[in-house]
Amino acid sequence: MRIFESIPDLREQVLNWRMQGLKVGFVPTMGNLHAGHLSLVSLLQTQCDKVIVSIFVNPMQFGPNEDYERYPRTFQADQQQLNTVNADAIFVPTVEQMYPHGLLQTVISVPYSLTGLLEGAIRPGHFDGVSTVVAKLFNMVQPDLAAFGQKDYQQLRVIQTMVDELTIPVTLVAAPISRAEDGLALSSRNKYLSVEQRAIAPKLNTVLLDIAQALKSGNRDFKALTKVGIESLLLEGFDAVDYLQICDPLTLLNSTPNQSKFVILAVASFGNTRLLDNVLLS
Ligand code: PAF
Repeated sequence: MRIFESIPDLREQVLNWRMQGLKVGFVPTMGNLHAGHLSLVSLLQTQCDKVIVSIFVNPMQFGPNEDYERYPRTFQADQQQLNTVNADAIFVPTVEQMYPHGLLQTVISVPYSLTGLLEGAIRPGHFDGVSTVVAKLFNMVQPDLAAFGQKDYQQLRVIQTMVDELTIPVTLVAAPISRAEDGLALSSRNKYLSVEQRAIAPKLNTVLLDIAQALKSGNRDFKALTKVGIESLLLEGFDAVDYLQICDPLTLLNSTPNQSKFVILAVASFGNTRLLDNVLLS
């Protein structure tokens, strides 16, 4: 597995693969890899000849009081894990390479109707940071396909919208959420949980599945369903529920009763540790 720090070297390699008629897949990450990331690599390996993984903790998508500084940087362990799934290359740009003119630069901003709600309402500017870095990574790597997990459902919709509206020639692959056996969605931030919090954490998924079941049975009282869900999460021991909403899977606006497709999105937290999860019903 090759490790690239320089953009020209990486591009030369990708061009070389392309000239051999090979299809190149790409998994952007912020490192601190877990089985969910590895499953993205494996998924792309079924559709591509070569898979590149980038590791870059993107300062532009963290707010001033968020965990940019303490976000775990675990390059050695990440490299070992990527070796086990036979990834072909790791791209590790520096902040200076990514943002040579600082963070006050050209920004890719997907419409506020999609980025201003849910996560975007709580983390202003977050999605501008995500779409800008993903656009830059796509330009640096120039992959044929790129995989994103559905756990960050709003992020996926933002990137799908950017790729569509900017006609970016990359095919997006959406991967199902990887979960621990007890249902907790895998996330790099699970490492922040205490033993007690880790035991409560899977309830988030249970509550979402209960709502999904109610929707499947024809219940359309969204207000009551989310109210009961929030109450049970707080009773289970979460410190706060940032949101629990039943939304349209494309626009992420609140669902209306005559819809048949839903995404139930929630964030529940322990202190500063926010756990995201969602269930898609379509
Ligand atoms: O999901 C992530 O890990 C990040 O938001 C991404 C897509 C790598 C952009 O920094």
